[in-house]
Amino acid sequence: MSATLIKDVKDIFKETFNTDPLLIFSPGRINIIGEHTDYNDGFVFPAAVNKGIAAAIQKSTTEVSTAYAVDMDSKIEFELDKLKPSKEGSWENYVFGVIAEIQNRNKTVGNFNIVFKGNIPGGAGMSSSAALENSVVFGLNELFNLGLSKEDMILISQKAEHNYVGVKCGIMDQYASMFGIKNNALHLDCRTIKSKPYEIDFKDHQLMLINTNVKHSLSDSAYNDRRSACESIAALLGIKALRDATEADLEIITEKVTPENYQKALYVIQENKRTEKAAKAIEDNDLETLGTLIYASHDGLQHQYKVSCDELDFLVDQAKTNKHVLGARMMGGGFGGCTINLIAKTEAKAFAEAASEAYKNKFDKACSVYFIELSEGTHVVK
Ligand code: GLA
Repeated sequence: MSATLIKDVKDIFKETFNTDPLLIFSPGRINIIGEHTDYNDGFVFPAAVNKGIAAAIQKSTTEVSTAYAVDMDSKIEFELDKLKPSKEGSWENYVFGVIAEIQNRNKTVGNFNIVFKGNIPGGAGMSSSAALENSVVFGLNELFNLGLSKEDMILISQKAEHNYVGVKCGIMDQYASMFGIKNNALHLDCRTIKSKPYEIDFKDHQLMLINTNVKHSLSDSAYNDRRSACESIAALLGIKALRDATEADLEIITEKVTPENYQKALYVIQENKRTEKAAKAIEDNDLETLGTLIYASHDGLQHQYKVSCDELDFLVDQAKTNKHVLGARMMGGGFGGCTINLIAKTEAKAFAEAASEAYKNKFDKACSVYFIELSEGTHVVK
């Protein structure tokens, strides 16, 4: 958590609304492996990080509510009984969506003011959206004693994203952001929505992120397309989700699906297996195997699931030329954002510099390197 972020939102809130706010920090997440498996009821391996959204929130005594996105330098006033989605891509949809989904559960929120600011750039594939949604629902739950459990809250955040933002996301991001545990990654079963924490201490290795600083357009529609392709194949197989399919099952319906969709379903089945193998590798402290699985994940995302892009592929190829990087892959929804790298601690800085320089030469723009800590989930800051 960043103390300066918290101080900033607190100061801005007090200046704007002349009262003391409740302070909340809601983290973004990384994901070690298990990409695009969550909405297939499969396994993922995320962790909350020490970057995210700080929010200052308090009840309002007026007839309107206000939300102020400091990073966007954008402030809006709204009435709670007149909510509807703003135009696509607007930040306020995350806030409106959460309120609307709380109201859908027949819970009453009163007017409130919120100021928020973050230190994960949008589009980094680190779930700044889930962090924001969770901060809003968590804050409202505290202020208005809504009696929501953390499980309720993440489902509200997810629905907000489906119905107001328009992305039919799985549950990984909201879960990791809400339930994160310091120094742990969560091996999450997205069917039961239960996870097993794994303490992450890679000894002489560490995780490092490199942000391409690109986000290609159409990524939301491509995401929804992938999801519906998976669902239609599951329906063809007569199962609830691809989590229940084997490669042999898929074989049987080859004739009934396009070669592209066949590869996508195959990717999901294989990635789900890799995620379980990764849990075993971490238990055994077998970083070589973990790294190999991470590279294979990228390969599948690039060639089978087709959610990568040139910038991500380039950074993964850079990693492959360095023997100190045991594994690297794109992270999150794809089409931009970060790669996650499993690298020897002593070599991390040198690789980061070399990869950054190569990236600059190739794309004529800068990438950003993040050293992260695995951290606690959404919480009130005292
Ligand atoms: C986005 C979604 C998640 C998940 C990942 C891909 O981050 O919000 O639910 O599907 O993409 O693994």
